[in-house]
Amino acid sequence: MTVGITRAMELNEHVVACASTGNTSASLAAYAARAGIRAIILIPSGGIGKGKLIQATAAKAQILEVEGNFDDAIKLLLDFAHEPGTGIYVLNSVNPFRIEGQKTVAFEICEQLGRAPDNVVIPVGNAGNISAAWKGFSELKKIGVIDSVPRMIGVQASGASPIADAISKGMSDIGEIPNPRTIASAIRIGKPVSWKKALLAIRESKGTAIAVKDEEIIDAQNSLATLEGIFVEPASAAPVAALRNILESKVIDRDELTVCIATGHGLKDPETPICEVRTKRIRADSRSFKGVLDTIISQPSGPGSN
Ligand SMILES: Cc1ncc(COP(=O)(O)O)c(C=O)c1O
Repeated sequence: MTVGITRAMELNEHVVACASTGNTSASLAAYAARAGIRAIILIPSGGIGKGKLIQATAAKAQILEVEGNFDDAIKLLLDFAHEPGTGIYVLNSVNPFRIEGQKTVAFEICEQLGRAPDNVVIPVGNAGNISAAWKGFSELKKIGVIDSVPRMIGVQASGASPIADAISKGMSDIGEIPNPRTIASAIRIGKPVSWKKALLAIRESKGTAIAVKDEEIIDAQNSLATLEGIFVEPASAAPVAALRNILESKVIDRDELTVCIATGHGLKDPETPICEVRTKRIRADSRSFKGVLDTIISQPSGPGSN
């Protein structure tokens, strides 16, 4: 988003806009505030993580709730902005400068690993991220920084999986999902705008795309929190949910170097089941504290226990 806003400033734009499932709106609002540019955000009605909207609200962006889903919101924005003279600079991932910024995730991965991974598993909503990451890896290979490129493995939720469906059926086109449903609101998208680039990334890299169920996403979200101490929002847990399936189905091997990209923090979406806060009330005396402690310590610790 910093690249996108910098470009908007170069072009002397005064109004930037995006349609968003939440996270894009938070970064658009923040960078626009810093740049002194007005930000207009179109969100689907309902289902956006509160942590995301709080960020956009704090930065005083104008948030418009469109009566419809994300696909309706982005269509409205792109159709409108397509006309000349609207004075609106769109900063969704259809904007090539967003992709130039987002591709650096590939640079960071290779820099940190000292090589390219064998597989990159990444959540797919509007399909900007997977396209951008693939561009980054391809460019590094082209200039000889890495010897090989990873297989790009896109992950969607099973109620919103047009790309995974197209891959599994070997289609060159995607079918639209009119009413996408999943707990992972960041990837609740039925008609990804960058689907062509995503199919290309997956096919060029000899990767694949798979769909995971909401229960699997929630399970992976819990596992990441309890086994790794990494607290992510549901869309971010989708790659880890997929990892279990692709290991079992031998799409990837345990010995391969595989990176799952965790895209969003858990606090962004406090309405998900993992965010249900549970406390135990105790009296402020040491006997009561000791009694409770004994019970806690006698219980098994680790995933699944409270
Ligand atoms: C947390 C999170 N993960 C994944 C995605 C999917 O990225 P893309 O829409 O570029 O496919 C998004 C998009 O908003 C997101 O917010």
